[in-house]
Amino acid sequence: MGVHAVFLVGFMASGKSSVGTALARRLGWDFLDLDARIESRERKTVPEIFRESGEAGFRLAETAALRELLTGALQRDSVVALGGGAFAQERNRQLLREWPSVFLEAPVAELWRRSLTDGIQRPLRQDPEQFARLYAERLPFYREANVVVDTTNKALASICAEIELALRLCGVHDAARSAADETPLETGESK
Ligand code: S3P
Repeated sequence: MGVHAVFLVGFMASGKSSVGTALARRLGWDFLDLDARIESRERKTVPEIFRESGEAGFRLAETAALRELLTGALQRDSVVALGGGAFAQERNRQLLREWPSVFLEAPVAELWRRSLTDGIQRPLRQDPEQFARLYAERLPFYREANVVVDTTNKALASICAEIELALRLCGVHDAARSAADETPLETGESK
């Protein structure tokens, strides 16, 4: 059977990394962050890429990293967090059309607040008005994801449970858990 993957999409500070890490842990899958892969392929940080090559250069690097992931680099079941602009690019949505995608939705004022405190440098975050404008431009694209989860006031565990239910990943989770539970029993029986 092929590799499983879930792609988390959403605006800056929408919790893609926190939800991705928690979901991957629950499923026993790997967690991958596309921005981290871009940085290691380019040997530069995201702000450096923006400074040296502009947004257009960053988008090329982003698509190259995504294409590499989908054409061989994805070797184990994984939850993948995309950067906030990735799913707004038509070519990336095309690359992802066979894969399940989940949009983590939250009010833009809340995203702005979180983006001020999470310590991440974001070249495309300037002021609340620009941030809200960019969010509104991208929203129709985010809504093309297979699953939309409203994350407002929800704990990580309940967001993960919603995603598992919507994508019918409960079976994967339960199978992994029950397989682990059965291992000592089988060992015992064969003695
Ligand atoms: C971007 C979001 C960032 C990163 C880059 C561009 C965007 O990722 O990919 O700064 O265009 O919204 P996060 O969404 O993880 O902040």
